[in-house]
Amino acid sequence: MTGVVIGVFSAPGGTGKTTISLVLGWLLRRAGNKVLLVDLDPSISLSYLVLRDESKLFEYENRGRCLSRVFERVRKGRSVELEDYVVSGKAIDVEVDILIPDSELTSIIDSLWYGPEARKEYKLRRVLEALGVREAYDFIIIDTIPFFDRKYAILTLYGSDKCIIPLRPTIIDVFRTCKMLSELPALAGKPKKEVFDQVRLLFNMVRRNTAQYWALMRGRYQEIIRGVISPHISFFKKHIPLRIAFSRVSTEEERAEDVRDVEEATLPVLSEFQQWIGRPSEADKAEAME
Ligand SMILES: Nc1ncnc2c1ncn2[C@@H]1O[C@H](COP(=O)(O)OP(=O)(O)OP(=O)(O)O)[C@@H](O)[C@H]1O
Ligand SMILES: [Mg+2]
Repeated sequence: MTGVVIGVFSAPGGTGKTTISLVLGWLLRRAGNKVLLVDLDPSISLSYLVLRDESKLFEYENRGRCLSRVFERVRKGRSVELEDYVVSGKAIDVEVDILIPDSELTSIIDSLWYGPEARKEYKLRRVLEALGVREAYDFIIIDTIPFFDRKYAILTLYGSDKCIIPLRPTIIDVFRTCKMLSELPALAGKPKKEVFDQVRLLFNMVRRNTAQYWALMRGRYQEIIRGVISPHISFFKKHIPLRIAFSRVSTEEERAEDVRDVEEATLPVLSEFQQWIGRPSEADKAEAME
């Protein structure tokens, strides 16, 4: 079975893209899958969480083990070997592979985007194909930047099979997500239905309110987004709660109970996610057989 590529992008910043990429990568890897993280954010936050060592990041960048080199070579029609670019680090407590961004990445992407080349929206897809990521991994997760810079969301949309769009349960995030979804199909040059089938919205950082209160609020937010954009917009039924443990895992601040806390808070979403992309976990498959 070939690997599935998952993009994570959002309208505003700080919705949890990097955290979700890290935690999903961790849980999938821990379940025995081969996982590749792709850090398409020049601020290197995911790479930093995974490598936890600035000197290593410098070293990889100096040795050209970084994404801008791949984009450059693919642009020139040269071959690329996955093993020359992938670096290894740790997602929480398991080894994971990652492709890291470097200081040249934004200028390379800008020049591809604004240059004379055709089919610019496919540039990330071509890079992933040239590297053969689907042949080498079960799951490829792309973490990117907010919709402030449209091209990253568009590249991610074209480069992925499915995309997770996290948002916080606030009226600002709901409003900005609506705005992004209303612009995205035309900007990406894709039919609305195709875009809306490809993405699923995920509420993150939901406070510990009573279940009834959240059900009510969630219903309202969903109604607003579906009313403004389309009844076909899909949402994860489960959400990710606000837990301080998420901000400490994979950092020096991590505490013993954090890993369990993050796991417990994310497993329901993981199961739903795997069903959605048609790759249910062994446990879910066994349960479905009963
Ligand atoms: N469920 C959660 N509970 C508590 N804190 C969280 C949760 N999810 C993310 N965070 C924290 O919120 C902050 C923003 O998260 P993160 O960096 O993952 O967002 P982002 O969307 O990647 O941001 P950016 O747009 O800047 O790339 C981080 O400090 C992160 O640790
Ligand atoms: Mg981020």
